[in-house]
Amino acid sequence: MERFSEAVTGEMVGEVALICIDNPPVNAAGHEVRKGLTAAVSWLAGSGAKAAGLWCAGRTFTAGADVREFGKTPQPPSLPEVCNTLEASAVPIVAVMHGTALGGGFELALACHARIGLSGLRVGFPEVNLGILPGAGGTQRGPRLAGIAPVLDMALSGKPMPAEEALKHGLIDELTRGEPREVALDAARRAAAGDLKTRRTGELETPADTDAINAAQVKLAKKPGLNAPPRIVEAVAASTRPITEGLAEERRLFMECYDDPQRAALVHAFLAERAVAKYPEAGAKPRAVKRVGVIGAGTMGQGIATSCLLAGLDVTLVEVKEEALGRGEAAIAKNLDGAMERGKMTAAARAEAEAALDATTDMEALADADLIIEAAFEKMEVKREIFTALDRIAKPGAVLATNTSYLDVNEIAAVTSRPEDVIGLHFFSPAHIMRLLEIVVADRTAPEVVATGFALAKRLGKIGVRAGVCDGFIGNRILGNYARAAEHLVLDGAAPSQVDRAVRGLGMAMGPFEMADLAGLDIGYFNRRRRDPIRPPEERYSKVADRLVEAGTLGRKTGKGYYVYGESKPVPNPDLDGIVADERALSGIAPREFSDHDIRDRYLTAMIAEAARVVEDGIAQRPSDVDAVFLNGYGFPRHLGGPLHQADVIGAAELVRRMEEWSAEDPWQWRVPAILRRMADEGGTFAQLNG
Ligand code: 3HC
Repeated sequence: MERFSEAVTGEMVGEVALICIDNPPVNAAGHEVRKGLTAAVSWLAGSGAKAAGLWCAGRTFTAGADVREFGKTPQPPSLPEVCNTLEASAVPIVAVMHGTALGGGFELALACHARIGLSGLRVGFPEVNLGILPGAGGTQRGPRLAGIAPVLDMALSGKPMPAEEALKHGLIDELTRGEPREVALDAARRAAAGDLKTRRTGELETPADTDAINAAQVKLAKKPGLNAPPRIVEAVAASTRPITEGLAEERRLFMECYDDPQRAALVHAFLAERAVAKYPEAGAKPRAVKRVGVIGAGTMGQGIATSCLLAGLDVTLVEVKEEALGRGEAAIAKNLDGAMERGKMTAAARAEAEAALDATTDMEALADADLIIEAAFEKMEVKREIFTALDRIAKPGAVLATNTSYLDVNEIAAVTSRPEDVIGLHFFSPAHIMRLLEIVVADRTAPEVVATGFALAKRLGKIGVRAGVCDGFIGNRILGNYARAAEHLVLDGAAPSQVDRAVRGLGMAMGPFEMADLAGLDIGYFNRRRRDPIRPPEERYSKVADRLVEAGTLGRKTGKGYYVYGESKPVPNPDLDGIVADERALSGIAPREFSDHDIRDRYLTAMIAEAARVVEDGIAQRPSDVDAVFLNGYGFPRHLGGPLHQADVIGAAELVRRMEEWSAEDPWQWRVPAILRRMADEGGTFAQLNG
């Protein structure tokens, strides 16, 4: 066996050679892989081999460039150089792919002289999700094999393509079964014997397809904001030119993307979502969960039950009244229909899921549940009553979870004789769609119960983020602070619709007042009443939302809130002007103008300030966990990376400067978090705290 680097080896088997990449966990094409492949091709030239097979050890073919190297000093050879070296090899090389051949990984295969997929393979160009484009020849070699349209589709969507489709488009030559090494050996032998056609992709021509290019440009023009997609179209369009010109154009456009702040933000988002799985109790063994109990058949309970059913779990749904239970069951059936229509499940799987649902008004039916999620009314007395009953009913070892959004999980755990089994599992509405799950660890929660929460998140296809106990945990605690900043802006002169528009201009999915209308203004009202006894006296309070609720306008569900909802586009509620004017008069406020820019600065700064305090207080394990929460539960735009990624972009000194300026008008709202002050004075970033 020849060793070319820590990650690449070669062997001669008779007249043919095999090259193996072994770089766990996903064979990312980092420096050791690139260096090893280059050495392997040199070795091949003098080996006397008639053909070679390239395969990967472990769970998958290479999943692309090593994103952990991004932003660091590049180490030669680059991936495009390695691809060119592979393509130039006089000895034909057949790539044999299993698992997922993505990005630079798939580009390595495209530079080989034939490609074989093993069943279950998916190929793709996910680079767009990282703010870049396939930069190792993918935009040039892909269209030479498949034509422009399918490659554009794959590179713009970032979605992996099943092997069957890749075969149809000519992106792979054969689809077969077997072990990668054995198939690679057989393929190399066939190539050597002339029984498997080999050729250089770069020597083929891309058929022009201006319709596909134009259609993609029109589609992108309707969705501005992201910088990589238009460059992807440009790069793919260049594939009709000679390969060296096309590759140069791809490189130019790739470097533009690479240097764009969106790339840093999107790579940060990718890594943040993986870092959440590293938590202190990660070594503990999760408890087995087969049957989940859900208490409450309202919107949250319906979504949670649907999510569990979609993941193949058995569900016992409990509600007090038959009528509400029936409504819940009907909504779940509708959710399952929706999942089927979106191609997420087959008709047979849907029937199985429905059969796995046991809906009842008898709480005793929870006796055989392995994990019970309470999604009842958000009131401590209600939670206490339920957990007292659960303590009696649930089997020993069952995990007892509350879906509370704000309440003290320690206080809930304290009513049971088994606080070590109690945890918060905070889902986001609609729970079968939203990817975020806050896993709220109370003082006495056992490590294996925490691990069970994370295992459940994974099973449900969600991003589980560990949070500590405080009012609102990570997400809602931060929301409280920037929602308040938005209310103050309205008191001081901005219209709610202007605030919403400005916030949407940042790329947020929704503005705070549209969001409040959607959630129902009574939710916020109820939460404010809960906070009445604990609200710090220094906090400036706006009564505008209370007055809307007291007038019976609760947002979308009553057709009126901050906006009036009718047949056409929502329009600002005309009653608001009077309410706001009254409140201003009562507080002696002379309204002033805010630009959209001012609004965004205040909104984002308030978000960052509380996010910083959440990290400082240890409620989030690391800054990037806060970002994962905001990206997956609060509509924060992915290409901005998250509030604390933005904190680093803006810089601690500037954030402190802003807060100090605004604190003249409201010292409490704009108090500077100690962690930010330290960063401003002594240097340091949130990225450094991520480790
Ligand atoms: N680079 C470095 N590490 C990577 C990686 C990559 N491209 N892809 C995955 N990993 C790491 C993850 O960070 C994780 O590490 P950890 O265990 O230490 O947290 C580990 O591999 C496993 O990843 P997942 O948890 O995501 O495992 P899954 O089995 O759920 O998914 C996957 C596997 C489908 C390969 C998924 O990881 C994925 O989609 N990866 C990203 C692929 C990608 O974006 N490739 C393009 C890179 S850019 C490029 O190639 C540029 C080129 O065109 C020049």
